[in-house]
Amino acid sequence: MKDSLFSGVKLGNLSLKNRIVMPPMTRSRASQPGNSANEMMAEYYAQRATAGLIVAEGTQISAMGQGYAWTPGIYTQEQIAGWKKVTDAVHAKDGVIFAQLWHVGRVTHPDNIGGEQPISSSKLKAENVKVFIDNGSDEPGFVDVVMPREMTKDDIKAVIEEYRQAALNAIAAGFDGIELHAANGYLINQFIDSQANNRTDEYGGSVENRLRFLSEVVVAMSDAIGSDRVGVRLAPLTSLNGTVDDNPIETYTAAAALLNKLNIVYLHIAEVDWDDAPDTPISFKQGIRDAFKGIIICAGRYDAYKAKQSIVDGFSDMVAFGRPFVANPDLPSRILNGQPLAPHDPNTLFGGNEKGLTDYPEYSE
Ligand SMILES: Cc1cc2nc3c(=O)[nH]c(=O)nc-3n(C[C@H](O)[C@H](O)[C@H](O)COP(=O)(O)O)c2cc1C
Repeated sequence: MKDSLFSGVKLGNLSLKNRIVMPPMTRSRASQPGNSANEMMAEYYAQRATAGLIVAEGTQISAMGQGYAWTPGIYTQEQIAGWKKVTDAVHAKDGVIFAQLWHVGRVTHPDNIGGEQPISSSKLKAENVKVFIDNGSDEPGFVDVVMPREMTKDDIKAVIEEYRQAALNAIAAGFDGIELHAANGYLINQFIDSQANNRTDEYGGSVENRLRFLSEVVVAMSDAIGSDRVGVRLAPLTSLNGTVDDNPIETYTAAAALLNKLNIVYLHIAEVDWDDAPDTPISFKQGIRDAFKGIIICAGRYDAYKAKQSIVDGFSDMVAFGRPFVANPDLPSRILNGQPLAPHDPNTLFGGNEKGLTDYPEYSE
């Protein structure tokens, strides 16, 4: 039990040095204009390269896929070059890093997508959801999201192609693999959850239909870069960004079984987001474990004790620590040595500069 977080693990062809994951965290510090990753971000990720696996922050696959100001993209040559700085810096420290590929669908505002109307599975607005735009100050300017339009079949084809190309771009940028962001109420989640999808074609209605878009995106990306470099993040029970499923246990157990068939390299379950922290029933965790044979990563308010327990119980193979990694660049060593964790500053999470990004020190007595 004691060392379960520190035993090595294989992720596809990669050998990881421990079972600690830095999960994707949006920090909104991409260079402007152009939304490119930069040297400051490279330093931040390199500082955290002792994680067994880093999943970099949500990264939009297209201009239409952007939900918030200053998030990085991976659809221009400049953006690929920006990410190369990050992956080189992480690899120089012997780290392993995946890109999180992101399309926000309806969780955006025209100001973030060149004045366009957002797209989604359906013409259904996310209620009580805000995003932030660049309002000319250094602070995020919060605004309500707007009504999206329902994607046509051609839109669906085009977005699948964007995901495929983004996966190729991620490999060109030096990432070791990609994580499809199918969690937290963004585009793929807007197809999966019954209350966000009222389509009457083969992409709506039954569980099988609501999982079709997820499946087609995963197949396209796997054809492009190999399923052993494709992971998927799901958020079965949270209602973040206003997506709710009427029967999440059934829907997400089916999703896990589907992804098992598609042979992806890991399934990343976001159990909690921020303060939206539903209890994940043990029977559901067992159901996911039975359905999915690859690596399972769990995230959401884990501490070292709970993380080890989850691995010992067999519900996860790796555990992600989000907020703890913000203020503790040397988190694995602090966990190993039982050292105290520093708290993060909530005011410097999104936007700004080095402050609150790269200036958290390693532990010292
Ligand atoms: C500042 C911040 C930004 C986040 N951005 C993302 C993101 O881009 N993609 C994602 O899937 N989850 C995102 N999350 C969720 C985290 O990956 C993680 O699931 C969540 O923080 C719960 O884990 P924790 O309790 O260990 O922090 C974010 C969380 C934080 C705190």
